[in-house]
Amino acid sequence: MTDRQKRVAVFVSGGGSNLQALIDECAKPDSPARIVLVLSNNADAFGLQRAAKAGIATAVVDHREFADRPSFEQAISKALAAQHVDIVCLAGFMRVLTPDFVEAWRDRMLNIHPSLLPDYKGLHTHERALQDGRTEHGCTVHLVRPALDDGPLLLQAKVPILPEDDPDCLAARVLAQEHRIYPAALRLLASGAVSVDGERAEINGRPGPLVWTAAD
Ligand code: GRF
Repeated sequence: MTDRQKRVAVFVSGGGSNLQALIDECAKPDSPARIVLVLSNNADAFGLQRAAKAGIATAVVDHREFADRPSFEQAISKALAAQHVDIVCLAGFMRVLTPDFVEAWRDRMLNIHPSLLPDYKGLHTHERALQDGRTEHGCTVHLVRPALDDGPLLLQAKVPILPEDDPDCLAARVLAQEHRIYPAALRLLASGAVSVDGERAEINGRPGPLVWTAAD
């Protein structure tokens, strides 16, 4: 690891396919980021096995063992400090974080969300896009703010919604794009290409989000 690499923690609660995409990206020799910690609230998260296989340190902070959110987050903060983390990536982390924690990581914490934000914040995004008869859907990487699925948008990928789609096949099409834009967004943030003015991000001087299609 070089001094110029940012030290990254990835938070997962489940399968961690986005984590895997980030691991693969950070394994590239020219990566400006290195994953130093994978943290989960769930000891059974498959993402922890992915981390172990890649030789990355893991931490389990089980929310059920804490009286309240602040004490849960204190334990998380301790794990992050121990690894001198610079950037946090939420990758299917199914716990809501308090405004205090989020503000402590302002402009240093990324999230991936399976919709074209600001549309469809929250859960069941694919079902809702289908129900609304949308013809286009996608995913977004954004800097995290205290409100759910809110914050300056960095990168989006659009996919078409096809007449025969059900939520599962639409989710799979979107997930493939998540695996492209999350590593790319981390690279942009870690390399210093992102600047933030309030609630707007600029990427290499261009207003965010950069929008990709499946063909890009
Ligand atoms: C992804 O759809 C992500 O957008 C959402 O949770 C899911 C996590 O999938 N926030 P994985 O654990 O990365 O496979």
